[in-house]
Amino acid sequence: MYVTKTAPGYLRNLLPNSAPNQPDSFQHVLDDIQAKILPGVTHWQSPNYFAYYPSNSSVAGFLGEMLSAGQGGGVIQGTASEDVLVVLLAARDNVLRRAGKDALEKLVVYASDQTHSALQKACQIAGIHPENCRLLKANSSTNYELSPELLSETISHDLTIGLIPFFLCATVGTTSSTAVDPLLSIGKIAKSNGMWFHVDAAYAGSACVCPEFRHYMDGVEEADSFNMNAHKWFLTNFDCSALWVKFH
Ligand SMILES: Cc1ncc(COP(=O)(O)O)c(C=O)c1O
Repeated sequence: MYVTKTAPGYLRNLLPNSAPNQPDSFQHVLDDIQAKILPGVTHWQSPNYFAYYPSNSSVAGFLGEMLSAGQGGGVIQGTASEDVLVVLLAARDNVLRRAGKDALEKLVVYASDQTHSALQKACQIAGIHPENCRLLKANSSTNYELSPELLSETISHDLTIGLIPFFLCATVGTTSSTAVDPLLSIGKIAKSNGMWFHVDAAYAGSACVCPEFRHYMDGVEEADSFNMNAHKWFLTNFDCSALWVKFH
């Protein structure tokens, strides 16, 4: 029986009017649970329960997840655009807690001009001023990668004029030029400036499962968050975008 057949309030008549003064045997307590409590339980977690929707994962499941997830955790989102929006909002709220809510107009986001337009869209939704989105020029001399020197210079300049650099988005496999940003060096720049470092590997992330391509991920350990779309080269049906966020 997966759905209880008891009427609301049935348990009231099965319970004594007051708590016992003397201890009871554990077996007796278990017998009470079996006879009185379980008939009133709807078994939401049962694999044979098809009514409504499942409530959450099993206790064994989430304990396993906690043991194996390492230094962060993740949630499957619909798209990479949602991923970057979610982490941008988290980073924004994080920095505003330190800098004060009136600092919103000072917050600055950095990425190369090869970055997917999802970042600009997320900035608009998050209330980041369009003039504070630094889409730094990348060109063929650096294979369209974000230049660490240009990033450093731009951050230093923004700091001198009183702005607050708070978010860097790198890409592993830019949409139009397949560029891979130098994660290690730009990640360290982000960290030394107290910024959130997000890595968008929307389509190329799947390829990096292969040992021969894994070096493209070098430096990913600097990231505060990471996303890849299983619905691209993992050939999963739409929508399935995996987002990982480091514990803060
Ligand atoms: C590098 C990169 N980031 C983000 C996106 C946006 O992905 P989605 O359509 O899942 O929002 C794409 C889509 O092609 C992409 O190539």
